[in-house]
Amino acid sequence: MVTLVCSTARMDSPFDRAATAAKVLNNRVGTGSDVAVVLGSGWAGAAGGLGEIVADVPLTDLPGVPAPTVAGHSGRLLRVETGSRSVLVLGGRNHLYEGHPVDTVVHTVRTVIAAGCRTVVLTNACGSLVRENGPGTPVLICDQLNLTGRSPMSGPEPPPGFPGRFCDLTDLYSPRLRAAALAADPSLREGVYAGLLGGAYETPAEISMLRTLGADLVGMSTVLEAIAARHLGAEVAGIGLVTNLAAGMAGVLSHGEVLDVARGSTDRIVALINALIGAP
Ligand code: HPA
Repeated sequence: MVTLVCSTARMDSPFDRAATAAKVLNNRVGTGSDVAVVLGSGWAGAAGGLGEIVADVPLTDLPGVPAPTVAGHSGRLLRVETGSRSVLVLGGRNHLYEGHPVDTVVHTVRTVIAAGCRTVVLTNACGSLVRENGPGTPVLICDQLNLTGRSPMSGPEPPPGFPGRFCDLTDLYSPRLRAAALAADPSLREGVYAGLLGGAYETPAEISMLRTLGADLVGMSTVLEAIAARHLGAEVAGIGLVTNLAAGMAGVLSHGEVLDVARGSTDRIVALINALIGAP
């Protein structure tokens, strides 16, 4: 009886589900990938600039990955060879605001790490609380405020073979990778990203609150994936592409505008991702 209970709990672990999905992934695109890049809203065009696409499968072919419901995500998983690196490019993500539990939101990140990736580059479209960082500005994420009220580290203790709870997040966004990005693009700004549950843009009052809390950027993704990746020992980098000044700072906000700005900034973004991927 005890054995049965233990093995059931083990089978249900989100970490084991990611390991299972990683086997499927490696069967579909081949083993040996070392970097994963998650492309945010409107970033799909960046994939082709990274190198030669050698595999292209629907993300939903991986067990446990729901179909994306957000415009601006390709829903494809590409393997791209850059010359020095094999990169898995995830053309979309699942969000809390779509109604997914936190383990589903971080499932693809856990999967690519289980498949062998040691570096995870998270990109997103976001609002800026800093007027000088207007639409079209990429900002290197140096730290984050997880304001989703959720954590990928909540729930049962990770099973044996996986790091335990209470991982250190002091250097969540790798100082080494940030230095590489800044060396490649010295005009790049850094900022603290506040990740909210989302589903609606913020109110001006919420933006005032976030500014007081130390946020430079605001969005509805990234923070949970960053924690999940760091917990599993990956090096994490994040780039927020500012698509709008935050609520109350200018005009009204629309997802269409967010996608247009993101698409228009592909070249600089590709150069930045390449700098992060190529960091020795
Ligand atoms: N707020 C939250 N998420 C966003 C924004 C914003 O202003 N812009 C793009 N994603």
